[in-house]
Amino acid sequence: QELQNGFSSNFLWGAAISAKQAEGSADRGLTVADIQDYNPNNHAKVKGDFTREEILERVEHPNQYIFPKKKGIDFYHQYRSDLELLKQMGLKAFRLSISWSRIYPNGDYTVPSEAGLSFYDKLFDTMQSLSITPIVTLYHDDMPVDLALKYNGFLDEQVCDWFVNYATTVLTRYQNRVKFWIPVNQINLTRVGLSALGIVRDQVTELDQKKFETVHHKFVMCARIKAIGRKINPEFKFGCMLADFLVNPETCKPEDVTLATEKNQMTMYFFADVQLRGEYPKYALRYLKDHQIDFTIQDGDLQLIRDNRLDFLAISYYNSNVVSADKNSMAIGDSELNPYLKANPWGWTINPLGLYDSFLKYWDRYHSPLMIAENGFGQIEELDENDTVHDDYRIDYLRQHLQALKNAVEKGVDVFAYCAWSPIDMVSSGTSEMKKRYGFIYNDLNDDGTGSGKRYPKDSFYWYQKVIASNGISI
Ligand code: BG6
Repeated sequence: QELQNGFSSNFLWGAAISAKQAEGSADRGLTVADIQDYNPNNHAKVKGDFTREEILERVEHPNQYIFPKKKGIDFYHQYRSDLELLKQMGLKAFRLSISWSRIYPNGDYTVPSEAGLSFYDKLFDTMQSLSITPIVTLYHDDMPVDLALKYNGFLDEQVCDWFVNYATTVLTRYQNRVKFWIPVNQINLTRVGLSALGIVRDQVTELDQKKFETVHHKFVMCARIKAIGRKINPEFKFGCMLADFLVNPETCKPEDVTLATEKNQMTMYFFADVQLRGEYPKYALRYLKDHQIDFTIQDGDLQLIRDNRLDFLAISYYNSNVVSADKNSMAIGDSELNPYLKANPWGWTINPLGLYDSFLKYWDRYHSPLMIAENGFGQIEELDENDTVHDDYRIDYLRQHLQALKNAVEKGVDVFAYCAWSPIDMVSSGTSEMKKRYGFIYNDLNDDGTGSGKRYPKDSFYWYQKVIASNGISI
């Protein structure tokens, strides 16, 4: 047997954005992302879930807040020049999300907006003319506000029906232009229930139970979308996407090791076991029972899930943490920093070996093709006197992670795409800051919305250009 050296010749070198962070809110309905305000006094704090009152307050008094995601980086108007710039970098794939509220402004059944549909027609046409392959997310944490307030988002199966209707509209419309679909971004990341699930926390009791129930609805929804999609175009590929939250034990104390194992089951593997293997694993059923989490699984749900397993595993990988039985619970994200690792100003550790390790584990368990849906390094940056940024720390970060990925590929892991987060600096998902910059391209915008919005390539732009041109030989 021949051994593979490096990446395959058709490897998709890409970068990723989301509609809620890039497009801006012109010509579409209001979403829960739009009202995640930037708060200068609370800048580094990850946004929690809003209560009903906090949502209404933001909707009714918008002038008292700074809403960076409403502005985005104006990708809606500048997509053409942005894509041309990314083509100069050599980009072969571009992961983007479609904005649900651009197609159906309130999310529910209405006539789809022709203006919204034709925006993505033009976007995909531009990508086709530049030979850039689209990888499309259908839901990237942008629930229409009304659906959250009236129904608690995907907790209500009516909302899931509307989402399937929206998905059917776009799968049909773009059937000849898009092959790779990710129905929902990071299905395991349910910490901020409002964005991920659409649940307004004080409108429900037993939030933990409701979260699992909503996740089940999302599983069924994804299976329905796959069933519909493969009738529309049998060539479609659908991905399960997880945020990599695999943890290691803080020490070799047996309790720490066991917590890491069980936590990895319930915060990571559970989701991919359902979506890729097509079954609810016994450990998950036991966990739900032991925690008195009880919800209805309709007749036929499990069969539908079994019959419509997804085709690939997409992973967003940024950092990795450790857990201690004395300090941490089973909740996703409740973990400790690894003392052996350095971190960025937001405390996100840098661990390329963690990526290597994770990919070996995913491959062993699923044997499904894998892709990196997001990987990147956020940093505070300013343009220098030559209108550029010498972001050698980002180059180091990406180089080490690509090397780790290459090592996994050479050990037999099937990886077909790598999407860096993000091609251009854009609004942070967690903190709504502009100053948390990830781009190969600097965007002259500030936290308070001031700035020209002009784009300037950083050193990493030219570095990634060489990586792509050499198909990953020159990392
Ligand atoms: C991922 C999200 O979890 O993390 C992206 O899918 C997000 O939308 C990225 O931008 C980085 O997070 P942040 O908060 O630094 O923007």
